[in-house]
Amino acid sequence: MLLTESFALRTDPSDSRPARRAIVTGASKGIGRAIAADLANRGYLVIAAARSADLLDTLARDRDGAEGGVVIHPCDLREMDAAQACVDAALATFGGLDLIVHSAGATKRGDFFSLTPEDFVDGFALKFHAAVNMARAAWPHLRASGHGHIINVIGVGGWTPSADFTIGGPVNSALMNFTKAMADRGLGEGVRVNGINPGPIETDRLRARFAVAQAESGLSEAAIREQMLVHERVTRFGRPNEIATLVAFLDSADGAYFHGALIDLDGGARKGI
Ligand SMILES: NC(=O)c1ccc[n+]([C@@H]2O[C@H](COP(=O)([O-])OP(=O)(O)OC[C@H]3O[C@@H](n4cnc5c(N)ncnc54)[C@H](OP(=O)(O)O)[C@@H]3O)[C@@H](O)[C@H]2O)c1
Repeated sequence: MLLTESFALRTDPSDSRPARRAIVTGASKGIGRAIAADLANRGYLVIAAARSADLLDTLARDRDGAEGGVVIHPCDLREMDAAQACVDAALATFGGLDLIVHSAGATKRGDFFSLTPEDFVDGFALKFHAAVNMARAAWPHLRASGHGHIINVIGVGGWTPSADFTIGGPVNSALMNFTKAMADRGLGEGVRVNGINPGPIETDRLRARFAVAQAESGLSEAAIREQMLVHERVTRFGRPNEIATLVAFLDSADGAYFHGALIDLDGGARKGI
C-alpha cells in the first residue's frame, strides 16, 4: 500500500493511488473525530471507533458521497478484546490495515483523594492498555502493509507531573515510553510509530474542565477561560483540526522521516526541556 505521496488533499478524481486504511479511536468526539474526518477527506478508508454509535453515525453520514469512507465501529476500548475486534473489522471491511491513530482517552482529573482505584484502572485501561492491545493486534498487518504506521495521541501532561493529574500524567508518560519502545521495534520491521502530545485543545474534554472550574469558583466561563490561558501560559486554546493536520502530515511521504517522535502540539504550553 503506497504512502500518500503528498500532504495535499487528494481532490483529483483520476488519482488512482490505493487508499490507505486506518483505524481511528476516540472518533466520536473532539480530536479523534477531527482526525477521522480529515483522513476521510484525504481519501483514507477509516474504521471509526468509540462507544457512542449515534455520534459515530453523524460522522459517517457527514461523509456520504465524499471520497474516502468512514465505517463506524462502536465499542468500549477498556475491554481487553476490543482492539482485536477493531482490527478484525478493518481486515474484513478493507482487506488490510496501514494506520492506527489512537485518540481515545478519558482519564479523570482532580484531587488525588477524590479519585478512586477504579478511576486509575479505567484511565489506564482505555488510553494505555487499549494502545498496547491495538499495537499487538495490528502489528502483523501493519508489517504486511509495507508502510504501516501507529500514531498515539498522548498529552503534554506526560512530561510534567501535577497534583491534579495523577492518572493522566502517569498514563501519558507510560504511553510515551511504549510509543518509543514500539518505534524501536518498528525500525527493523517497517512500521513507524509516533506520538503527538496535545496541549489544551478546545474539545468536550476541555469544556468539561471549564464547567468544573466554573462550578467551584462561581466565575463566568469567560473568566475561567482567561484563567486557564494564564495558568497554561498559552495565548489561545488549540483546535482539533490542528492535531488532525499533523496526523495527516506525519502519515504522508513528506512526514516519513518521523519515527519514534513525540511531538508537542501545544501552543508553547510545555516550558521544560
Ligand atoms: N483536549 C485536550 O486539551 C487534550 C490535551 C492533552 C491530551 N489530550 C488527549 O487527547 C485524546 C483525545 O482527547 P479529546 O479532547 O478529543 O477528548 P474527548 O473530546 O472527550 O473525546 C474522547 C474520545 O474518547 C472516546 N472514549 C471515551 N471512553 C471510551 C471508551 N471506554 N471506549 C471507546 N472510546 C472511548 C470518546 O467517545 P465515546 O464517549 O463515544 O466513547 C471520544 O470519542 C485523549 O487521550 C486526551 O487525553 C487532550
